[in-house]
Amino acid sequence: MTGKARISERVLSIGKSAIHEMTRLSREMEDVAFLSWAKPTSGTPEHIREAAISAIRDGLTGGYSETSGLEELRREIVDKLKRDNKVEADISQILVTVGAIEGLAAAVMAVVDPGDEVIVPSPTYSTHIRQVVIASGRPVFVPLVEEDDFSLNIDAVEEAVTSRTRAIMFCTPSNPTGSVFSENALRRLAEIALDHNLMVITDEAYEYFTYDGLDHFSIASMPEMKGHVISCYTFTKTYAMTGWRIGYLHADSELIPQITKAHIPFAICAPVVSQYAALGALKAPQDCVAEFREHYLSARNLMCERLDRLEAVFDYQRPGGSYLMLPRILREEGRTDSTAFCKKLLKEAGVSTTPGIAFGPTGEGHLRLSFCVPEDMINKAFDRMETYFS
Ligand SMILES: Cc1ncc(COP(=O)(O)O)c(C=O)c1O
Repeated sequence: MTGKARISERVLSIGKSAIHEMTRLSREMEDVAFLSWAKPTSGTPEHIREAAISAIRDGLTGGYSETSGLEELRREIVDKLKRDNKVEADISQILVTVGAIEGLAAAVMAVVDPGDEVIVPSPTYSTHIRQVVIASGRPVFVPLVEEDDFSLNIDAVEEAVTSRTRAIMFCTPSNPTGSVFSENALRRLAEIALDHNLMVITDEAYEYFTYDGLDHFSIASMPEMKGHVISCYTFTKTYAMTGWRIGYLHADSELIPQITKAHIPFAICAPVVSQYAALGALKAPQDCVAEFREHYLSARNLMCERLDRLEAVFDYQRPGGSYLMLPRILREEGRTDSTAFCKKLLKEAGVSTTPGIAFGPTGEGHLRLSFCVPEDMINKAFDRMETYFS
């Protein structure tokens, strides 16, 4: 008998990733100006690399750690949560994960049954959408208020709650919009979660990158949210550790064993060498984080100045956080098909961006630009766009 072995509906229902597709197309070309990647281009600081090398030399990295992560690392994470997130935790509430992504996936798996609904803002980080779909859940998109810096529409969130809603999932500071949800909005969101017995799943990957006096607020700092929030964090952005695949989540100690049941089949434990690197990152002075932040702020300012010179082509909200922004395309050809617009921009102007449709229905008509690149790259991309659109 011939034929193809069957692939699951849950995987088939996931479309191609626009981000990876743009990367693939960019690789086929020479001398592309990249504004499409959300990964830090700076290298991991030396003291962090040294911490990993020492652990390897000392023979500490050859086996699994506890599934929840090295105890010493979890202790440092507890201190960090208290210091920087105002979250009172203990080590039984920490699960060290393979980046924020695996933590988020494990959280969704632990909370969502087939057919359950998860409220996500639109636009939002595309991987969140896929994580809900792969758990056979249904993402319910609630539009952000674009003209108000892509803020949360709390009333619309409440209206979207049904008897099938299990969770609200979002990132702040946001990929792709760069918005930072206000403490006030997040407190109201928390109230909705409590009123309807929902789980809030947060992605705080960009927690340290806020600008213009805006502050990052962690919902888990509200004691009444105990048992109703799973907060996911990462070393990827804070310490430029993309490839180390190391992050962690915080949740009530009664939830952690359940989430761990989802973590083990995918990971067993986070890479041990990376756990030692993460320990090195947390134990050292935090100057590198402030330096990255300064760089992103200056890159953000440059990108906004350059966008101002293209006001006939793009309208934009100034990002208050992360290192991403989502300008609206004013040109007719980009209003309804951001994918075609971005592909054309790549082919004809040599500038790689990401189509907004990747980030949910109201992402259409936009394109995502990343400013975690050297300033020369921003100038090169915008010089090309100015010539191309003139
Ligand atoms: C919002 C958000 N969450 C998570 C990640 C990935 O995090 P990690 O590398 O820790 O899995 C990214 C990377 O772009 C991101 O933008």
